[in-house]
Amino acid sequence: MRIIEANNYQEMSNLAAEYIIKKIHHTPQMNLGLATGSTPLGTYSEMIEDYEKNRTSYAHVRTINLDEYVGLETNHPNSYKYFMKENLFDHINIAEGHTHIPNGTASNIEKECQAYEDLIKNQGGIDLQILGIGNNGHIGFNEPGTSFESKTHKVKLAESTRIANARFFNSIQEVPTHAITMGISTILKSKEILLLVSREEKNEAVKQLLNGPKNENFPASVLNTHQNVTIIGDKKALAGIT
Ligand code: F6R
Repeated sequence: MRIIEANNYQEMSNLAAEYIIKKIHHTPQMNLGLATGSTPLGTYSEMIEDYEKNRTSYAHVRTINLDEYVGLETNHPNSYKYFMKENLFDHINIAEGHTHIPNGTASNIEKECQAYEDLIKNQGGIDLQILGIGNNGHIGFNEPGTSFESKTHKVKLAESTRIANARFFNSIQEVPTHAITMGISTILKSKEILLLVSREEKNEAVKQLLNGPKNENFPASVLNTHQNVTIIGDKKALAGIT
C-alpha cells in the first residue's frame, strides 16, 4: 500500500485529480470506478477544471459508480446519479451511456444487483476504483459485518451511516434505509484502488485500516490484501501514521 500525504484538502484533491488524469491519458478507454460523498468533491472539481483548460477527453472512458440509494428517483437531488451529473458528468465530455450507477428504483432490486455485477464483468472489470471510507470502516455501502465474499447487493444502511449522511437531507427521516452497493469482492477485483481520506474525523478509521487486523467488522481492512492500493490523504486524516 502506498500512502501519499497532502498538506490539506485542496492539495489532496489536486494530487488525486492528477493521478486519475494521468491514468486516463495513459489508457483513454479505461473503466473508472467512482465514489460519491464529500471527500471526492474537490477531486471532481479539479478534473472539471483540467477538462476546461486541457481538454482531457472522457469520450472513451466508462465510469462505474460504487453505490446508489434504493428508492430515490434518478432526478432526486440526493440520488447518487444526480450527484454525479451535478458534480462531474455534466461538465466533461462523457456520454450518458458510458456512465453506470446501480438503478435504485428497479422493480426487482436483486435482479438489478446481478445485472450490475455482470455489467462490470462484461466491461472487462474496473481499472481504477476511487474509494472513500466511512468512520465505521465501510467502503461503498458495505457496512461492518459484510462478507468479504460479497458481490453487488442490497444493504440495510447502518444507523451511523444514515446519521452521517443526514447532512445532505432535510431530516434523518428522509435518508433512505437501503442501498445497492458493489460488494467487497467486486471492489477487490478492481485492478487498482485509490482511497481518498480527508479531515481529522477519518484519522481513527485510517489507523485501524493500517494497523488493525483483517476483519469483516472493519470492511476497509480487506484493502490490505489488494496488491495495488494507493491512499491519498491530508495531514489531518493521516496524523500519527508513519
Ligand atoms: C460513496 C461511498 C461511501 C463514502 C464514505 C465516505 O459512494 O461509497 O463509502 O465514500 O461514506 O463519505 P464522505 O466522503 O462523505 O466522508
